[in-house]
Amino acid sequence: MRKKVTIVGAGNVGATAAHWIAAKELADVVLIDVVEGTPQGKALDLLQAMPIEKRDCNIVGTNDYGDTANSDIVVITAGIPRKPGMSRDDLLNTNFGIMSAVVGEVVKASPNCIIIVVSNPLDAMAQAAFKKAGFPRERVIGMAGVLDSARFRTFIAEELKVSVENVTAFVLGGHGDTMVPLSRYSTMAGIPITELIPADRLKELETRTANGGAEIVKHLKTGSAYYAPSAAAVEMVEAILKDKKKILPCAAYLQGEYGISGLYVGVPCKLGSKGIEQIIEIKLTVEEQAALQKSADSVKELCTVIGVA
Ligand code: NAI
Ligand code: 2OP
Repeated sequence: MRKKVTIVGAGNVGATAAHWIAAKELADVVLIDVVEGTPQGKALDLLQAMPIEKRDCNIVGTNDYGDTANSDIVVITAGIPRKPGMSRDDLLNTNFGIMSAVVGEVVKASPNCIIIVVSNPLDAMAQAAFKKAGFPRERVIGMAGVLDSARFRTFIAEELKVSVENVTAFVLGGHGDTMVPLSRYSTMAGIPITELIPADRLKELETRTANGGAEIVKHLKTGSAYYAPSAAAVEMVEAILKDKKKILPCAAYLQGEYGISGLYVGVPCKLGSKGIEQIIEIKLTVEEQAALQKSADSVKELCTVIGVA
């Protein structure tokens, strides 16, 4: 039997995630939204691409959680995106209300699923979803680090004029201005980039990474990025469905790791069929640990505002 992935929110990120999943023939997809017609229309359109792409995936659009029953993974993209001048944090109260309603329905329909949260502000929304779902922490995961690291990898590959395949990079911390791009653990074909790119130039690439979402919002004007965000969420879906044991930076509920407790923060995780199967603790310098703590503090502030700290 094919696996089943539900995507909540049939907007830019959700519909594009459905596209990547179908293009990779990973699972059957259910696209659900509050707006009537949008998920149905997009799902039918995507379904009709399958004979051309030679992929066997069933794709259903709906407004009824009954159709999402017994999903293996539920990706939550429901919520409002930011517009120019808005920070991710400006979305807090609206998206918290949406997240609470959505998670209640998701848990009823798919009590054994793994939830991947995408809606912003990411770390606070992951924390809200975790508290509402009552699932073990392994099964509620936030997507941000894969995207932020992909942005960093893009800029490093451009700088060094090499294949993106040769570049690995890590960005830790919350998905906001305080995120922590870790140049020391980023490499080109195994060579630390700190040996290849001068420190002041690296700083510029780190800053561009931290502002990566805002750079795209400024261009688009009416919304935020969705190709790379949806590809990032689907890399996590694939790692779980194929039990790949893949190390990816994810927002995870920390219980003492990195000296942080009771909070979602981006850290390296091993993703497999059970969800987060291990949180990898890497050695940080005093400065890196302080930057991670600062990022965690800003996540905690948001969680306190919505009462999920
Ligand atoms: P969008 O506006 O294109 O789509 C959002 C969809 O959610 C809309 O179709 C809307 O009708 C739907 N929706 C609203 N309330 C709902 C509910 N109660 N149930 C089901 N669906 C509901 O927005 P886009 O660009 O797809 O972004 C979605 C979210 O993802 C935003 O919060 C955005 O900030 C966030 N995001 C997070 C990223 C990350 O790295 N974690 C990256 C990119 C976006
Ligand atoms: C991004 O980083 C808006 O969080 C979204 O593109």
